[in-house]
Order: sequence, then C-alpha cells, then structure tokens
Amino acid sequence: MRGKFITFEGLDGCGKSTQLEKLAAVLRVRGIDVVTTREPGGTIIGERIRAVLLDSRTAGLDPHAEMALMFAARAQLIAEVIAPALEAGRWVLCDRFTDSTEAYQGGGRQLGSDAVLQLHRVLCGRLWPDLTILMDSDVSSSVGRARRRNLAATEETPDENRFEKESYAFFTRVRNGFLELAKREPQRVVLVDARPKLEVVHPQIVRLVFERLIDTGDKKATPA
Ligand code: TYD
Repeated sequence: MRGKFITFEGLDGCGKSTQLEKLAAVLRVRGIDVVTTREPGGTIIGERIRAVLLDSRTAGLDPHAEMALMFAARAQLIAEVIAPALEAGRWVLCDRFTDSTEAYQGGGRQLGSDAVLQLHRVLCGRLWPDLTILMDSDVSSSVGRARRRNLAATEETPDENRFEKESYAFFTRVRNGFLELAKREPQRVVLVDARPKLEVVHPQIVRLVFERLIDTGDKKATPA
C-alpha cells in the first residue's frame, strides 16, 4: 500500500514548517510512519544546492538557472527520499514542492507556469502530492517575519536571505501564483488562512487531513 504524500506551501514566514511538524506528531500518534523533509534540500546533494540558491551572496543567478537548480534538488529528493518512502508505505510530509516553483519562478520571476509544469513532467514524472496545504497570509506580515527570523540567525547558521531581499511586488506575484494554482486544482490544493494563531490553524489542518486522507471510507488508508 503506497503511502500518502502531503506538501505544505505558502509565502516565506507563513508558519508552514511549524505546522508540518505539528501534523507529523499527530499522525505518528495515530501509528502512521511519517517522513518529513523540505525543499530545496532534504538530501546531502540537495542541501548543497540549497546553499547556492538561498545564500544572499549568490548574486546574478539567472532565473532559468534558479528554476533548474530547484528541479535538480527536487529530482534528487524524489529519487533518494520521496519515492522510496511512498513505495514502502510511509507518509511523506514535504515543506514545499513544485507549487513553490510555479509561484516563485513561474509567478515571482515571471517565467510562467507552462515552463514549470513541463519541467515537472520531464523530471518528476507523474508524482504529485495527494494533498497540498496552501497556507495563505499577507505579504507584508509573513515576509517581515521571515526577514526578522533570518536577520536573527547567528554566525553558525547559514545565510538564507536571498529571497527575503525581494520586493513587495515580487511576493505579491508569488502569492497570486499560489492562489491561481489553488483555484486550478481544488481537489488537491486546499487553502488555509495562516493568519490566526498557530494553535488555531493546527486543528484545522488536522481535520482537513483526516477528512481527505484518513476518514475517507477507504479502509486501506486507515492506519492500524
Ligand atoms: P523555505 O526554506 O521554505 O523558506 P521559508 O521558511 O522562509 O519559507 O524556502 C526557501 C526559499 O526558496 C523560499 O524563499 C522559497 C524559495 N523557493 C523557490 O523560489 N522555488 C522553489 O521551487 C522552492 C522549493 C523554494
């Protein structure tokens, strides 16, 4: 029995990483074998690509090169982590996936959705999440939170400020990109308002996952 694949999406600083960990804890209590991972990164090679992509000293990176590197990290993550886990019946919770490329490179960098979806077809095949939780938030508050978090980073933590330096207009295009793809794929992508406190958002996400993937009447999907 193949495992379920759940992704979290949203603007920088929307709280998705915290929500992902909280959902993983609930699923584990239910006896589900959960793997958590993130993009770009999640493998040794992918984390090296992440360092190139996010370091604010990576100046002059061409938008197409940026998109290709996002997919390079993703292809490695699928081969090493996601596909083997799903085949073994484990559930995979991933912080970002191709929807981020569509929103950031397709929308933010204005490369368009088609290029992203074509690359996905070639490099990721038919692998799409069973469920995507899109955490929607205001551009100014979420990006402000991400900037403060990264500025507070210490000497030992990596510089991950390159995207945080982008303009309000860039992040508005990213947000619109997310909202458009959610409209296009309502079966897979569920919008969650990320603005309330995390204790308010968490039970909504749990309910959503149970409704969509566990209490579906599909006995095989119900964990022991
Ligand atoms: P992430 O670690 O999720 O940052 P945050 O916790 O601030 O949300 O993602 C790193 C950055 O990479 C983020 O600014 C979004 C960007 N990104 C893309 O531009 N395209 C992609 O395909 C992915 C996966 C991430």
